[in-house]
Amino acid sequence: MIPTLEVSPVDNLLEVTDLSVGYVTKNGLLRAVNEVSFKVSPGDVTGIVGESGSGKTSLANALLALLRPPAISKGRVSFGERNVLSLNDDELRKLRWKELSYIPQGSMNSLNPVMRIKDQFSGILQTHLDQAERDRTRRVMEDSLSKVGLDAHNVLDAYPHELSGGMKQRVIIAMAISLGPKLIVADEPTTALDVVTQKDIMTMLAELKKQMGLTLILISHDISILAEICNYLLVMYAGRVVERGRSEDILSSPKHPYTSGLVASIPRLTGEKRVAGIPGEPPDLVTLPTGCAFHPRCKYRMTACVSQVPSSVSVGDEREVACLLYR
Ligand SMILES: Nc1ncnc2c1ncn2[C@@H]1O[C@H](COP(=O)(O)OP(=O)(O)OP(=O)(O)O)[C@@H](O)[C@H]1O
Ligand SMILES: [Mg+2]
Repeated sequence: MIPTLEVSPVDNLLEVTDLSVGYVTKNGLLRAVNEVSFKVSPGDVTGIVGESGSGKTSLANALLALLRPPAISKGRVSFGERNVLSLNDDELRKLRWKELSYIPQGSMNSLNPVMRIKDQFSGILQTHLDQAERDRTRRVMEDSLSKVGLDAHNVLDAYPHELSGGMKQRVIIAMAISLGPKLIVADEPTTALDVVTQKDIMTMLAELKKQMGLTLILISHDISILAEICNYLLVMYAGRVVERGRSEDILSSPKHPYTSGLVASIPRLTGEKRVAGIPGEPPDLVTLPTGCAFHPRCKYRMTACVSQVPSSVSVGDEREVACLLYR
């Protein structure tokens, strides 16, 4: 008898549950990330968007278990079978780069200025390749650089200052993909670049995703950067996810008033007037406003918003919003 092929449902690659991050400061506990939950399936490109200070980098650092006291993180970050937050240093070292790669904010400017690219790149590979694999170092560097559109012969002997910003960012991405990770978290990968180069880098990431079957989490304060490449979006405000869903749904009909403001600020090719930002300032995360943290800036504010923290509610297929308008 021919055995039937069972198609199992796609397992989550990453599942984040009630993740919170706090920093102990002289003024009190700064709540940078509050009870964030989301899932990432293989092949997803998930964008995390929010204003400066909304907790995006803190969230990324927590995902990668990079926070150390006095930073406090709690919750669960399941990567496959493992809870990243309970791995020891050795287990984390094995996980990073090979399975879970991180492109930290500003990393292209943290390349060592007095080391050639080949020495920085091979340094990473040496610590992660087995003894038997080390002969492959040069080959791995060349392959990875070619995947990001760089000619290894021009780049490997160069010092960082000899490369343009776009080339440096490509080198960083080459390093991040070099060991074939399952998931890459990239924090503001295009922020320091000019608009044309930003677009090139995002197009390249989309291409790499297709070619290598990558799963990506991309972080940006600029929703227009994320709009084209991401299939899911997570909108953060004052450390909370205020809206989550498929990109096309969020972009075509934003639900949370904060998301509406972000979407309205996307420049349109139709020549429609771009709405200037969202009035008001993001809150101080030590003395958060009571109730919904967005209420002081919200034009739909109701009395209840001042006292009740809205929990996330489902407002459609794979769509959640944390706003009392949708109770
Ligand atoms: N090590 C730290 N100690 C104390 N406070 C911190 C620390 N790191 C970040 N913060 C604070 O946590 C809050 C969230 O910062 P975070 O860098 O996560 O935001 P972000 O959304 O990445 O901002 P940006 O868009 O500017 O990169 C901010 O108020 C920031 O000042
Ligand atoms: Mg940041």
